[in-house]
Parts: sequence; structure tokens; C-alpha cells
Amino acid sequence: MSSSRTSQSPSSVAESAGAGTNAGAGAGGAVGPPPYALGIVGCGTMGIAILSGILASSKAFAAAALLQSQAQQSQAAQSRTDVANEALSESVADLLGEGGGEGGEEEERRRMELKYLPSTFYACVARQESGRRLKSLFANEREGEEGSVQVVVGDNLLAARRSDVVLLACKPHMVADILREQGMQDALKGKLVISICAGLRIQQIAACLHPSSTVVRAMPNTPSKIREGMTVLTPLPPLSSSSSSSSSSHAQSRSRLLSIFNAIGKCRFLDEKHFDAATALAGSGPAFACVFLEAMADGGVMMGLPRKEALELAAQSMQGAARMVLQSGAHPASIKDSVTTPGGCTIAGLLNLEDGKVRSTVARTIQAAAEHAAGLGQVKK
Ligand SMILES: NC(=O)c1ccc[n+]([C@@H]2O[C@H](COP(=O)([O-])OP(=O)(O)OC[C@H]3O[C@@H](n4cnc5c(N)ncnc54)[C@H](OP(=O)(O)O)[C@@H]3O)[C@@H](O)[C@H]2O)c1
Repeated sequence: MSSSRTSQSPSSVAESAGAGTNAGAGAGGAVGPPPYALGIVGCGTMGIAILSGILASSKAFAAAALLQSQAQQSQAAQSRTDVANEALSESVADLLGEGGGEGGEEEERRRMELKYLPSTFYACVARQESGRRLKSLFANEREGEEGSVQVVVGDNLLAARRSDVVLLACKPHMVADILREQGMQDALKGKLVISICAGLRIQQIAACLHPSSTVVRAMPNTPSKIREGMTVLTPLPPLSSSSSSSSSSHAQSRSRLLSIFNAIGKCRFLDEKHFDAATALAGSGPAFACVFLEAMADGGVMMGLPRKEALELAAQSMQGAARMVLQSGAHPASIKDSVTTPGGCTIAGLLNLEDGKVRSTVARTIQAAAEHAAGLGQVKK
């Protein structure tokens, strides 16, 4: 499935709005997988978060590749010291956003995955005003070059025709009308269609498409914008034939999926039956976490801390606790216990939290959000 851009001129509806860096074409001169285009149908809050995260990763990947090739050249010429080369390797890891704890194999896997990032983007919106906003957000350079963001207002079909992979990021209730537009089925034939629409089932989306299109659901969240997102993906459908072209297209789709969603944070595959829960926990999770964070900061302000410092203390404490769970695999209860000295201030605060039924309130919040998510993509009776 190579790039299917047509010779049709973008006309007034598709405007170039700046550029990222073409990771797919093998930054640093290496030959990579073929470049391809990603269409984002509905480029609002989430679309922008995903696009920003991918562009940031592309740039980091290109810079890292450049540093790596410089390091290789310097090694070959033996004109640099080991210390300098080590510093370069550290810079490469930093640019790729890799923590010090990950092994070389993990780094290599991430680097390989980033090669499958899209090189061109079609960001679709409905209103001129939103188009202007996107243009200013992504406008910086090199009109028409690979890596550019083309803003498309009111012409999803054009974007679908020119894209190899299409991300449905509009509101769930809009999807059926968008996919049933005349010519859309043809435009999406044989392509990978990724939906981030809460509550909308794969079956409902596939029913609007040609059987050769592949539908995958993804549930990302807004920290994707700073490459700290969490995305849950449904597995690709099993191979329909054992032909080598079918299995290579399957492998390419998987690489592209992993590349796109690893570029904006962490991602993992989960069966579709878990999607409403994942929507509540990961999709809405940042909002719930921010309520807790704001409340902690309010407490600090109540006790005399300036607002700015109180927010910083609360946010960094939450980030630190979360990273301890993620990095060491420690159970949250053991981290809590390790902070709780007998008769100390932490246990005094914890008992107050328990009096407020904070655990069941938070757990029921996820339950309520998941139940609501289940109804989002469904026709109201
Ligand atoms: N927000 C989250 O945290 C989050 C997390 C996970 C998943 N999601 C899912 O992501 C999807 C988008 O959510 P959002 O919060 O990003 O919504 P949003 O900010 O309202 O964005 C929706 C976008 O769709 C565009 N749009 C409207 N009609 C369109 C049409 N006919 N063709 C093409 N584009 C059209 C809008 O453009 P105009 O501005 O021009 O109308 C807007 O850019 C939803 O399905 C939601 O379930 C959201």
C-alpha cells in the first residue's frame, strides 16, 4: 500500500500549513519504508494532540538519526574520544525520549518503529475558522514538502483519496454520514482506517466500508500532545489469506499502527470488549487526575503556599508516584506504605481521604464514565 496521492491539485480547500520531518523516508540518509500519508478526519482536540505528538517524534527521530550518523562517522575516523561518543549516544536516547533504564534492544525496537511514521498529513475540519486555527498551529515552513500538514476544510473525500491511512477523530455520531458520502467507500478501499471515536464499534464502522478496508479502534488520550499518551488498540483482524502480499500488508499496517501510537506515548493491544473501560480510564483519565491534582494544590494554598508552587508540588508528586509504579512495577499500596510512618502526617491525611470514601468515589467514576462511553456511538432510541 504505497502513497496514493493523486495528481489532482489541492485547490483552495487543501492548504499547506507547515512541516514536520520525514521520519519515514529514513532521516539521516538511510533507506526506510515508503513514505505515506495520514488523513485525520476531524482534527480537533484529539486530532491536534496526536498530530503534534507525531510531528515532535518525527523531529526527534530525525535529529537522533543525524546524531547517530555523526557518531558513526566519528567512530570510523577514530577522531573522537570514547567520552564524546558516549555523550552522543546519551543525546540520541534523550531525543528519542528514552529513559536510562531501557535496554539496547528496546531502544532499537523503538527506533525501528519510528521509521514507519507518516510523512504527510491531511488535517480535516468542517469550519473555515477551525481551518485557520490549524494553519496557524502547524504553519512554520516548507510548503508542499514531505512532512507537511495540509489543512482540508469541508472535503473529507479529497483527504481520504490522498491518504494511505485514515484516522477518524471526529465526534462518534458524525462517522456514519462521513463514511457514507458518495465516493468515500472507493477512496478507502484496501486502506487502514483507525477510529478513536468513543463507543463506536468496529462492526458499525466496517458496515460503512468496502470489505477490503481494515478497521482498527484506538483509544488515546490528550497527553499524546507531549508524547506522554496512553493508547489502547484493538488487534488487527486475522489474515484472510496466506498470500505473501496479504501478510506483508498486514505487517506494514501493524508497523504503522505501532509507530504512530508509540510516537505519542505508550500503546498496547486489547480486545474490543475492554474499550469502554479503557475509554473511561485512559481517555478520560487525565481529566480525573487533574481534579485530584487541583484539589491537592487547593489544600496547599489553604495552608499558605502560593498557587504556582502548590500546583508544581502537586503535579510533580503525582508524576513521581506514577513513574515509580510504571518504572519499578511497584504496587501503589507498597509505595503508600513506604511513605507512611507510624503516627505521622501521611497516615493522618490518608485516614481523612478514607473518611471521604475517595477509593469508591474514584472507582465509581471510572464505572460511570465507562457506562456512558458504551452508549456514545449507539443510536438513541
Ligand atoms: N478529547 C479526548 O480526550 C478524547 C480521548 C479519546 C478519544 N476521543 C475521541 O476523539 C474524537 C474527537 O474528540 P475531540 O475531543 O477531539 O473533539 P473536537 O475537539 O470537538 O474535534 C472534533 C473535530 O471534528 C471536526 N468536524 C466536525 N464535523 C466534521 C466533518 N463533517 N468532517 C470532518 N471533520 C469534522 C471539527 O471541526 P470544526 O471545528 O470545523 O467543527 C473538529 O475539528 C471523539 O470521537 C472522541 O470520542 C477524545
